[in-house]
Amino acid sequence: MFDKQEMLEKLTGIQSSRKSYYTELNYLVEEMKKKNSQLAVINQLTQIQINASWPETSIYIASQLKQILPLEHFALSLVKGGTRSTYLSRWNGTEWQCQTLIEAASADMSLNQTRLHASLQEVLIDHAATSVPLHSPRQQNFGFLTILHQKEEQLSGEEYELFLLTASHISVCVENILLFQDVHEKVKIEAQLVQSAKMAAIGEIAAGIAHELNSPLTAILGNSQLLLREMGTSSATPLMNDIYRCGVRCKKIIQNLLTFSRQEEYQFEIVSIDDVVEDALGLIGYQLTVSGLAVHFEASPSPLSFYGSRHQIEQIIINLLLNARDALAGKEDPQITIRSFHHQEDDRSYVGLFVHDNGSGISPDHLPQIFQPFFSTKERSKGTGLGLSVSLGIALAHGGKLTAESESSHYSRFTLLLPQLSDEEVHDDEETNPDRR
Ligand SMILES: Nc1ncnc2c1ncn2[C@@H]1O[C@H](COP(=O)(O)OP(=O)(O)OP(=O)(O)O)[C@@H](O)[C@H]1O
Ligand SMILES: [Mg+2]
Repeated sequence: MFDKQEMLEKLTGIQSSRKSYYTELNYLVEEMKKKNSQLAVINQLTQIQINASWPETSIYIASQLKQILPLEHFALSLVKGGTRSTYLSRWNGTEWQCQTLIEAASADMSLNQTRLHASLQEVLIDHAATSVPLHSPRQQNFGFLTILHQKEEQLSGEEYELFLLTASHISVCVENILLFQDVHEKVKIEAQLVQSAKMAAIGEIAAGIAHELNSPLTAILGNSQLLLREMGTSSATPLMNDIYRCGVRCKKIIQNLLTFSRQEEYQFEIVSIDDVVEDALGLIGYQLTVSGLAVHFEASPSPLSFYGSRHQIEQIIINLLLNARDALAGKEDPQITIRSFHHQEDDRSYVGLFVHDNGSGISPDHLPQIFQPFFSTKERSKGTGLGLSVSLGIALAHGGKLTAESESSHYSRFTLLLPQLSDEEVHDDEETNPDRR
């Protein structure tokens, strides 16, 4: 039979006198709690979001590791394609902030680690760095996790072991993110290739057909006009008129096809967006207002200029206005609003223009397709489905963008953004070419 003391020792694993029994028990409980929180953190670390950015991933790992290791700052480094990218997460007392350092990588990973420590110490002078490697399943070292701590606070042996253990878990997650990015990039490139091959093929066919059709069409249009003049009013006049109208429509299609395949050359110059809107309204404004549409143009208070083809941008605006007119057919209180404005995005200035209508809107199913060549919801006699794809092509060729937003039965808004010229650039041009204006 065990005596009472022996029994307690066997049950609790604590060999001690009754006096220190509770102290040891408390110590054991604390140790268990620590191990539990370490397990919880390791579990959390395996849940790194696969589509997160690297700075987000670095901050996530830093915030988790801070709960179980004595770290002040943290760095995630990845060696890939000849560069070493380091995502340094720093705690500023209230939140984590991540800084990216990109440097040339060496083929020798231990040299990479030495250089990494050197560059981290340049940023955080009074800190010491402790790194553990990130390994792929084939034991290839593809990066590091680095803890940055005060020089006098070295990691204990036990803490270093724990850091190594967490690194093996994090390696798997980081590898998954790298794989995800690779696949994602490949899918994107493939889609771009298919799209550009499709566009190139369509462009080539379109240009060929357009050139072939141009001369016979000129004859059809010229002759039908002559005949119309000669025949005066007769029973055949409506038929001849029809031939002429159809000829004009074909001409428009050919024009679009040629622009689409970029076979036509346009002159680039400094243009004011408001002037182009005025020109476009001069051409079709009357046609719109007689159909009962209210057209408002709200010009930006400051002048907005871009470098491009006046004629091509006018074509975009006309395409957008004609689409708005079609979408407003049969609507009560049909309105088109055009507004020019300044837009700032990613440190770049843009000349912005939107055309807004309160017409039929575009269904969510159709919205992703409207910029595709030959996509049209209109009757065959009304739409070729080239207007928006031509317009998008022009916008991109100007280094700009054309986007659409819409709500079925409520509104459609097309926004054109073109790189803006600064006042100095416009001024310099006016000085060197005084007769341009
Ligand atoms: N403002 C708008 N409101 C509602 N739908 C629109 C609007 N603009 C474009 N769409 C939709 O996008 C489709 C494609 O437009 P796009 O201008 O490319 O061709 P289209 O107008 O049909 O023909 P085309 O312009 O070549 O004569 C249209 O058929 C229409 O369904
Ligand atoms: Mg159109």
